[in-house]
Amino acid sequence: MNDFINDFWPMLINVISLGGILGCALLLWKISKTKVTKSKDGTSGHVWDEDLKEMNNPLPVWWVRLFAITIVFSLVYLVLYPGLGSYEGQLGWTKNKQYDKEIAEANKALEPIYAKYAAMSIEDLSKNEDAKGIGQRLFLNNCAQCHGSDARGTRGFPNLTDRDWLYGGSPENIKETIIKGRMGVMPPMASLIGNDDEIKNVTHYVLSLSNNQHDAKRAELGKEKFTTVCAACHGTDGKGNQLIGAPNLSDSIWLHGAGEANIVKRIHEGKTNQMPQWQEKFSPEQIHVLTSYVWGMSNH
Ligand code: HEC
Ligand code: HEC
Repeated sequence: MNDFINDFWPMLINVISLGGILGCALLLWKISKTKVTKSKDGTSGHVWDEDLKEMNNPLPVWWVRLFAITIVFSLVYLVLYPGLGSYEGQLGWTKNKQYDKEIAEANKALEPIYAKYAAMSIEDLSKNEDAKGIGQRLFLNNCAQCHGSDARGTRGFPNLTDRDWLYGGSPENIKETIIKGRMGVMPPMASLIGNDDEIKNVTHYVLSLSNNQHDAKRAELGKEKFTTVCAACHGTDGKGNQLIGAPNLSDSIWLHGAGEANIVKRIHEGKTNQMPQWQEKFSPEQIHVLTSYVWGMSNH
C-alpha cells in the first residue's frame, strides 16, 4: 500500500537514503586511496599542551571492513524490505501482515485453552481461577474505561456487580448484551405530561415508588399521568422492562442521578445511552469467558 499523496516525497526519500549510502561508500573509497603521510616518529607534527602529540595512523582494517559491511547490509535491506519511498520490497513485508501473523500465532496457542472453556457452563467457568484471570484482563482492557476497574460503574454507566440489571442478569442476557451491544432510549416526555406543576407531581410519584422523600399529595396527583405515559416502558408498578432497558424506578438505584431535580431533568430531556457491541472484536470463546467474569461478579 502506498500512503504517499504524490511522487515527490517517495523520490525525496530515495534520494536522501541512496545518496547517503553512496556518500559513505565514496568516502570509504577515497580514504582507502589516500596515502597516510607521517613523520619519522609516526605523528602528524602537531603538539599541544607541551607534550601531547597527534598520531597519524591509517584506519584499522576491522573498522574499514565493518564500514563496508554496513553499506552492503543497508543495500540488501533496502532491496528486501519497504524502505525506499513507495517501493514494497522483494519480501512483501508489511507491518500489518506481521501483526496479523503474530495475532494468529497467539490465537493458535490459546485455542486449546479457549476450547476447554467454551465447553464449560458460565456458572462453572466463573469459579475457574484461570478463566477469571483472562476475563479480568479482557475487562480491564476493554470495559473498565466506562464501567470502572472495579466494575461498579458511575453516572450513566451501570454497576455490573449488583443484582440490578437493565437488560437482565442471566448468562444469556449478559452474553447478548456484550455481543450485540444495547441502546437505551427514553424520549423527552414533558409535552405528554403537561406544565411544570404536573411534571413535579409525576416526579413525586416516581420518588414514592422507592420510598424516597416525597410529597404524598403531589404523588397521588401524579400517579395517573405516570400510569398513562410512563408505565408503557417502566411498568405500572415502575419496576422497569428489561426488553427495552427501561430501569426499575422502585429500587433507589439511579443510573442518571437520584433526587427530584434529576428526575425532572429526565422527563424534560429523555435519555439515549449506548453500550457498544463487541462481536467484531472478540471471538465467541472470548465473549464466553468475559460473560462468565461479569456474571460471576454478582453471583458469588
Ligand atoms: C463506551 C462505554 C462502554 C464500554 C467500553 C463498555 N460498556 Fe457496557 N455499557 C455501557 C453503557 C452506557 C451501558 C448502559 C446502556 C443503557 O443505559 O442502555 C452499558 C451496559 C452494559 C451491560 C448491561 C448492564 C445491565 O444492567 O443490564 C453489561 C453487562 C455491560 N455493559 C458489559 C460490558 C462489558 C463486558 C464491556 C467490555 C467488553 C463493556 N460493557 C464495555 C457503556 C460501555
Ligand atoms: C419509550 C420508553 C420510555 C418511556 C415512555 C419513559 N421512559 Fe424513562 N427511561 C426509559 C429508558 C430506556 C431509560 C434508561 C435510559 C438509559 O439507557 O440510560 C429511562 C430512564 C428513566 C429514568 C432514569 C432512571 C435512573 O436509574 O437514573 C427516569 C427517572 C425515568 N426514566 C423516568 C421516566 C418517567 C417519569 C417517565 C414518564 C414521564 C418515563 N421515564 C417514560 C424509557 C422510557
